[in-house]
Amino acid sequence: MLVMNNIIGKDIEKAAALLKEGRVVAIPTETVYGLAAHALNEKAVMRIFEVKNRPAVNPLIVHLADADLIPNYVSDIPDIAGKLIDTFCPGPLTIVLPKKAVVPGIVTANRDTVAVRIPAHPVTRQLLKMTGLPLAAPSANPSGFISPTRAEHVFSNMGDKIDYILDGGACNTGIESTIVGFEDGLPVIYRQGVITANDIRLVAGEVLQYAGDKMLAPGMSAAHYSPHTSMILTDNIDEEIEHNKNRQLGVITYNEYVASVSKGQQILLSENDDLQDAAKALYAAMHRMDARGYDVIIARRFPDAGIGLALNDRLQRAAAKS
Ligand code: TXA
Ligand code: MG
Repeated sequence: MLVMNNIIGKDIEKAAALLKEGRVVAIPTETVYGLAAHALNEKAVMRIFEVKNRPAVNPLIVHLADADLIPNYVSDIPDIAGKLIDTFCPGPLTIVLPKKAVVPGIVTANRDTVAVRIPAHPVTRQLLKMTGLPLAAPSANPSGFISPTRAEHVFSNMGDKIDYILDGGACNTGIESTIVGFEDGLPVIYRQGVITANDIRLVAGEVLQYAGDKMLAPGMSAAHYSPHTSMILTDNIDEEIEHNKNRQLGVITYNEYVASVSKGQQILLSENDDLQDAAKALYAAMHRMDARGYDVIIARRFPDAGIGLALNDRLQRAAAKS
């Protein structure tokens, strides 16, 4: 591939230096790329909101090098939270806990809780250790758009607005972390990810599915994760294709091609019927389909269980009109 720019690179020291200076840098995590800034530097964090065009009411996740650092930023860790941290961190789990005063209000949208996560990506773990900083980082996409799972996705959507994109290759997990908060000591899932409700239940004994205030986790708003092209999510793909037969259409399908559309218009996510593979491939497929300029992208619904629930959740929001 041609070297298309000099803002994508693998220089961890350069990324660390920029972050210490209070600049924003895109970083790889195992889930999706994040747009990072020094979490205790309000001006740096403000720049994240500007670059993403993110509403100030939507709080950020604070990324840490190690679970031992969590008590520096949160005032209380319930027993069950401790168990979840021991089991799943580092990894694609975000925990929402009462914050300490050191965490600026801009990071948490003035809530009294803070979301923390220990990412598992080796490049970003090294970066976190090298800087010694807590890094506030939302996904590195313009607000409401599909999350990036490759450095090139970040470049094409905000390459002109940031100083550096630390390239850690394609993200392994491919969808955003599972977010868990606590109500009366019980875990509540605010956002589903590849760590499923059942995985949480096995550790915590019980788990509640979030059904409250819509503003609690704005990533939970109906329209989100959307490509520019309109999307349809369906159980009955043949019927949707028939309805849209006079339009240019792209098809995203889980584990088998659709017979009535040419293979060139389709992206198959997992030949082996593996939801983890499908999660890894989904956003890249949406980015590619979006770039092709179809009238509509039709996606086949995943099985409604386990990781399939998280994938259907993302596609549902991608298909919702804002
Ligand atoms: O996998 C991920 O979580 C990625 C990578 C970069 O770590 N990050 C990510 O960040 O998806 P973002 O900002 O796109 O989504 C974070 C979600 C938002 O919906 C936000 O509202 C919610 O976390 N959130 C953050 N702090 C919260 C808090 N204190 N209480 C409730 N929800 C919170
Ligand atoms: Mg996001």
